[in-house]
Amino acid sequence: MKQTENQILIIFGASGDLTKRKLIPALYDLFKQNLLPEKFAVLGASRSQLTDDEFRAKVEEFLPKDENLDSFKKMLFYQPVLTNNANDLIPLKNRLQQMSADLQIDNNFVFYLSTPPSLYEIIPRLLFENGLSKSSKFFRRLIVEKPFGTNLDSAKKLNVNLLNYFDEEQIYRIDHYLGKETVQNMLVTRFSNGIFEPLWNRNYIDRVEITSAESLGVEGRGGYYDHSGAMRDMLQNHLMQLVGFVAMEPPTIINATAIRNEIIKVFQSLRQIPENKVAKYVIRGQYTESKIRNKTVAGYREEPGVNKLSRTETFVALKFFIDNWRWAGVPFYIRTGKKLPTRVTEIVIHFKSVPHHLFDSAELSSPNNNQLIIRIQPDEGILLKFGMKTPGAGFDVQTVNMDFHYSDLANTTVPAAYERLLLDCMQGDATLYARGDAVEEAWKFVQPIINAWQTNPEIPIYGYPAGTWGPEEANNLVSDSEWRFPCKNLTDDGLYCEL
Ligand code: BG6
Repeated sequence: MKQTENQILIIFGASGDLTKRKLIPALYDLFKQNLLPEKFAVLGASRSQLTDDEFRAKVEEFLPKDENLDSFKKMLFYQPVLTNNANDLIPLKNRLQQMSADLQIDNNFVFYLSTPPSLYEIIPRLLFENGLSKSSKFFRRLIVEKPFGTNLDSAKKLNVNLLNYFDEEQIYRIDHYLGKETVQNMLVTRFSNGIFEPLWNRNYIDRVEITSAESLGVEGRGGYYDHSGAMRDMLQNHLMQLVGFVAMEPPTIINATAIRNEIIKVFQSLRQIPENKVAKYVIRGQYTESKIRNKTVAGYREEPGVNKLSRTETFVALKFFIDNWRWAGVPFYIRTGKKLPTRVTEIVIHFKSVPHHLFDSAELSSPNNNQLIIRIQPDEGILLKFGMKTPGAGFDVQTVNMDFHYSDLANTTVPAAYERLLLDCMQGDATLYARGDAVEEAWKFVQPIINAWQTNPEIPIYGYPAGTWGPEEANNLVSDSEWRFPCKNLTDDGLYCEL
């Protein structure tokens, strides 16, 4: 087990939602598992004028009221801050000095930016100007929440700006998908088993499919989402990281540099979709009003904060290729959307069918017969579908399932994504964080699509009734076959299971 040095975590934007929903609960879980360093404190910082006690009361909402709560709350502190100029950070700096002295904590600081992105340009500079960004004796780290830019140019500018004040090794760009246990397990599935990797290439794989469906809509985040859309909100970051893990070459060792070097090679090999092909290879959709279980569900344009004439996509599906030795000619299909029938994220590896069909079965002639399904959430696990003889006379073949569910592991809790990622950063391990160059490469792939949508209003945005699997046109992307329509349970699928 790695050593976690004593440190203080400073959360900018501490009065926001993320702090109470994700960060503090993750820290509380780490505390209960004894994974926090011996000397540790959290200093919340934001514009709101709160006392330590008021901050503690505010973040308590999402914590279970158990016997550990009081001791945990003693680790939480709060400092109001403004961020107009360097002097505004002096009270925070003084407070840190005082806390280090009172609590005898070393001057190791992790700064977490959970603020509006406009402050990503300002706070790192103010930290630098106050001498808080660099230290030869103690570590200084900076965690940045997405979005990492809203287009390729702003992503590049953000990187340049961060690197003016912090070194790349100090910057931790959080993508919570990388914190999911099942995403990390992809590396273990691929590289610790002798049976998958020999097949993991263009010779045996027909196509790769990635679905990330959500049944929820924009849930009060209409103002943000309408300027973002599914492409920026989910695909450019979370889904591209999944592509990186599925498609990467084996790293030489498991460490941040080796893994991230392999991921960037995948991104560099993505075949860009030219603007004049976007309408063909990328399908965008927006949910419209519908009835789900006899209840009327509002359409996207009726959501608070959303423009009544909005053309923001709440669904996107695309087909693309990775131009390298391993994946030449293998289509990748990705789709993500809000207000789909169920919440599910999974990767489906469709293997090629056998070269010669011995058995007179409709099922076996389908290239879909062998599938490996890596379920990211929910009902986390792995499912292998293969053909088996139907008992009885003749040689009829049917597809059967071999499945593993994480829930079958006794006494094992799957840590929440933020829990894993926060601990990694505290220990100085950036493996599961996005590197600046990879973020830019992912933007390079996505940018021509966004440009095409902006400059060619004739590229359709298809409506789809809330609660369905997105526009019909997305089905036409997949040639000669169809998407898997997953259900909540890993082993179930079918078009209508959750409607
Ligand atoms: C966030 C997006 O990054 O990821 C949200 O901003 C989305 O719109 C969420 O709902 C999905 O995360 P998860 O872990 O629920 O799949």
